[in-house]
Amino acid sequence: MHEDSNYLIPWNPDEHEIHTTEILVLGSGIAGLFAAINLSDRFNVTVLTKKNIMAGNTEHAQGGIAVALNQDDSPEFHFGDTIKAGAGLCNLEAVRILAEKGPECVEQLIKLGAQFDKLENSLDFTREAAHSKSRVLHAKGDATGGEIERTLVAKVRDSNISVCENYFVIDLLKNKQNRVCGVLVYNENKLKLEIWLAKAVILATGGLGQLYKYTTNPPVTTGDGLAAAYRAGAELMDMEFIQFHPTALLLPGAPSFLISEAARGEGAKLLNAKGERFMHNIPGQELAPRDIVAREIWAQMKEGTVYLDVSCLGQDKVQKRFPGIYKTCLEYGIDISKSPVPVGPATHFLMGGVKVNIDGETNLVGLYACGECACNGVHGANRLASNSLLDGLVFASIVAEKIKENPGSLPKKSDLKFSSNLDFSNEKNNSVDIKSIKEELRQIMWDKAGIIRDRSGLLQAKTELTNYIQRFSPGLNTAELELGNMLTLGLLIVKSALAREESRGGHYRSDFPLTDRKWQKHSVIKKGDTRVRYVSI
Ligand code: SIN
Repeated sequence: MHEDSNYLIPWNPDEHEIHTTEILVLGSGIAGLFAAINLSDRFNVTVLTKKNIMAGNTEHAQGGIAVALNQDDSPEFHFGDTIKAGAGLCNLEAVRILAEKGPECVEQLIKLGAQFDKLENSLDFTREAAHSKSRVLHAKGDATGGEIERTLVAKVRDSNISVCENYFVIDLLKNKQNRVCGVLVYNENKLKLEIWLAKAVILATGGLGQLYKYTTNPPVTTGDGLAAAYRAGAELMDMEFIQFHPTALLLPGAPSFLISEAARGEGAKLLNAKGERFMHNIPGQELAPRDIVAREIWAQMKEGTVYLDVSCLGQDKVQKRFPGIYKTCLEYGIDISKSPVPVGPATHFLMGGVKVNIDGETNLVGLYACGECACNGVHGANRLASNSLLDGLVFASIVAEKIKENPGSLPKKSDLKFSSNLDFSNEKNNSVDIKSIKEELRQIMWDKAGIIRDRSGLLQAKTELTNYIQRFSPGLNTAELELGNMLTLGLLIVKSALAREESRGGHYRSDFPLTDRKWQKHSVIKKGDTRVRYVSI
């Protein structure tokens, strides 16, 4: 594979079936489906999704959706908390839009049928880390994402939106004027490549948690949309800012299952190996910003296992408020209503992504992005808890409005620009074990580009990932395509983390532990750049 190739695999426009739709939405989480729904009154919309429609991060979201709808709350308070969590790197305009447009988007979601938990007929708002108010809506206790996803999927199924499941988007295609006009897709149902053309393409493919050994994200989160956008020439912003959730289940043989921050919001306490609290002297205590809690846990883990004691909430509350967490932990032999659960940090969210303006436009005409794969700076260096579902709703609806203003025209096959496949002329056959490279990549990222980074580890990671990229070229199957994308993105994260010589939010450098005003700027990286660039906030 070449670090800067235009395509992930060789292809030829004359050999593949061509399909046309007016608007292509890539991804079926909250952002993709909400954009599709908001466009479906005007356009013929097709959603392409890598696996089952429900397989992404949205379905797994537990804690909730933050929105200033509570009586003692206001968009100004929500704005202020978001900015504070973002550690000096938030785009103020994006945050203002998030906080102000959030309530109407959540009301639209409720009209579509989403049922959030209530207390005596009023919405029940909970508190999470770094929120000054109780403003987090939840559903079925800790199954908020599932409720939202089911609501959106039901609406999509009841509309004229087409959904293609098991469609792996490999690359973005452009026309001769350099406008993004479609995608090259691997149709896993038929085991063949297809070309899909559209007036506009919306990237809503989610995050990349699977690049790390420990992650709360499901298996599909290998960053394929981000990598495809990069190959097409999109700018990626703030890729060094990864959020590590402080509390994932940490048991040998168990997945890094999320133990929602809402548990700490309700009063659960963190205990060290001696059974003592260790957050009580830190501002915010258990509800300090996520990066701080994650690093404190990380430090305590050197002395032994760290636990979250949820049992102090009482059996009844634990079972009613956190039924999903209770049930999953029980499957692994831990009754959280009776005993503390072992936890550790795990990769959770990408604050960076494809650089977009306030309207969700990328630097490539015809390509829009929203949700976790997009970066307009709304989360700054560290996302406020439960702001990601709201981000997906608000900016997806804005992308839909923008496309309605100027949708572009339907491309034809003859419009396709086909850059040569010269990148592949020297490819050698793989004699590599895909599974073990994937594991090694995940270990490298965890050890050297994880919660605590430094120059020497990042330089080693850079060399190791570059070697893998040179040795490996993907074949036409999901595991290999994913690995190609993961290697590309791993290197981009490492380069961005190496360049930022300070600590801020989710990016912590032990060799530059202080936040430095001169770094109060966004990193930008684009294919062909020899170094990371910076733009002011
Ligand atoms: C959680 O439930 O702790 C996760 C919510 C979020 O990622 O904001």
